[in-house]
Amino acid sequence: MNYQLSHRARTLNPYIGAELRDKVEALRRSGRKLIALNVGEPDFPTPIHIAYAGIEAIIKGVTKYTPVQGTHDVRQAVCDKLKRDNDLSYSPEEVVITTGAKQAVANALLSICNEGDEVLLPIPCWGSYPEMIAYAGAVPVFVETEPEQDFQLNVERLASKITSRTRAILLTNPNNPTGTVLDQETLYAIGMIAVRHDLYIIADEIYEYLNYGEKVPLIAALSEEIKARTITINGLSKAYAMTGWRIGYACGPLPVIRAMTVIQSYTTSNPSSIGQYAAIAALKDEGDSVQEMTKSFDERRQYLIREIQSIRGLSCPNARGAFYLMVDVSHYFGSVYEEGTIADSKDFAEYLLHQVGVVVTPGDMFQAPQFIRLSYATSLAQLQEAVALIRAALSLLKMRTENLK
Ligand SMILES: Cc1ncc(COP(=O)(O)O)c(C=O)c1O
Repeated sequence: MNYQLSHRARTLNPYIGAELRDKVEALRRSGRKLIALNVGEPDFPTPIHIAYAGIEAIIKGVTKYTPVQGTHDVRQAVCDKLKRDNDLSYSPEEVVITTGAKQAVANALLSICNEGDEVLLPIPCWGSYPEMIAYAGAVPVFVETEPEQDFQLNVERLASKITSRTRAILLTNPNNPTGTVLDQETLYAIGMIAVRHDLYIIADEIYEYLNYGEKVPLIAALSEEIKARTITINGLSKAYAMTGWRIGYACGPLPVIRAMTVIQSYTTSNPSSIGQYAAIAALKDEGDSVQEMTKSFDERRQYLIREIQSIRGLSCPNARGAFYLMVDVSHYFGSVYEEGTIADSKDFAEYLLHQVGVVVTPGDMFQAPQFIRLSYATSLAQLQEAVALIRAALSLLKMRTENLK
């Protein structure tokens, strides 16, 4: 048979993050010892009271279909969290529970974009977004941010990219991969640009609690007119170490939430009933388990920034949120080693993997080809070992190169 695929399937690029994860797993199965700094998930277990809630759900028989939009109880728990932590009022009708925040972003894009619409996307950005925008028939319009400004978004530059086709701004705060946290003033300015040009804001705020500086509000909380056009995306994966439970949510204008629910009804239906039940326990948590994890991430963050900045040829902008650090490795482009040349960040990542078994994500995945992304969602001991190995690998490279200054 001629396995002809749809245009959609043929033009969608494989997700580099997932490919890298598969590669790491295969290498580990073959016996290779690796330190994985590519993973975007907390190394902590799901807090025990949340895990018990999941067990209780199974034993009580909460194992059936739920409403597509999610149970009323979990949507109410989301509303209570938004009121308690963000001073935002939503009703359960304005909330949809999704199979991870990823599905919420995808369904939001599918709900608001027509063929050829443009979505403004600050870069570096999470590797999934450009393909998700394209999958929705729209076009990502990149808005560059600079490492010298710690990847803060320049609102004039954002405004300059608006055309008659612009439909939405897709914002991540705190940011993956840069760890940048936008301040309230910038968020407000972005919000007002959206108001002025009648644009949607898709605000992916999944790293909300992983902010090691001053607390910033959710963009929807900044004014009623901003809220009226914002689809707030969040989820339990990162803050509660629940990546495998696959629970995310979106809240926003009723027509959009309804459209997202209809789209969901034809793909996954409701997210896991067990996950939803456990999510109620998580969302009721007023922050004890989150605080403990955040404290630990912050220690690792400070350690990693200090160490990376002390390695010759590497530099990293300040990162105040999420659990990632972008490291500029362009100093090493053009250097050679026995098996080849390091021409770009993919080669650099390959070299670290090959030479010392440290797995990092090449910046190409985030539209940042001079960088690699390090995740510090791994123990301090592992980070210490990784730093020593990176130092060793680079000093070896230095010895074999002639073109390093
Ligand atoms: C910015 C951002 N949004 C969403 C997600 C996906 O989250 P979830 O596990 O809830 O689908 C990630 C995961 O890496 C992310 O970095």
